[in-house]
Amino acid sequence: MVIRDYRKEDFPKVEELWKQTGIYTFERGDTSEIILQCTDLGGKFLVMEDPVTGNLAGTSWMSYDGRRIHLHHFAIQPSLQKKGLGRILTEESLKYARDKNCPVKLEVHSKNLAAVNLYKSLGFTAFEDYDVYIILNP
Ligand SMILES: CC(C)(COP(=O)(O)OP(=O)(O)OC[C@H]1O[C@@H](n2cnc3c(N)ncnc32)[C@H](O)[C@@H]1OP(=O)(O)O)[C@@H](O)C(=O)NCCC(=O)NCCS
Repeated sequence: MVIRDYRKEDFPKVEELWKQTGIYTFERGDTSEIILQCTDLGGKFLVMEDPVTGNLAGTSWMSYDGRRIHLHHFAIQPSLQKKGLGRILTEESLKYARDKNCPVKLEVHSKNLAAVNLYKSLGFTAFEDYDVYIILNP
């Protein structure tokens, strides 16, 4: 597998992967333009790809707000899960955060044990008594 920066022609495969892994919702409004906009603002979008077939194995999107990195849209293609690829992609993502010298935050459903165990095993700790709020149309 290779891990490289996102290119706009990746988007159809990226969207398909998000749908297959249950992390896509239309309301989020995530488009290729938004990905590139985040990158221009100092973020990073990594794709993991099979160099032989060109198939997409995973995505990791890191938005940067000038202070912290928010890690989101993290997923590994279902047929490739539980082979250590999620760990490799997370470690590569954390290298980017180390280079930027800033903390990384993420949100994960408490029942998503695969993701919770992965993040905890790499040093993430959860806030106690903490809810996440959003307003989609302010
Ligand atoms: C979460 C996800 C990215 C993990 O990717 P993966 O490639 O399967 O993970 P790995 O094989 O690298 O496993 C790394 C660690 O994660 C944990 N883990 C992975 N799958 C697990 C499962 N089914 N149950 C419990 N823990 C699991 C384990 O701690 C594992 O370490 P170990 O193998 O030493 O026990 C993957 O399951 C996925 O894409 N899920 C759907 C999308 C999603 O929920 N994304 C996260 C949103 S916050």
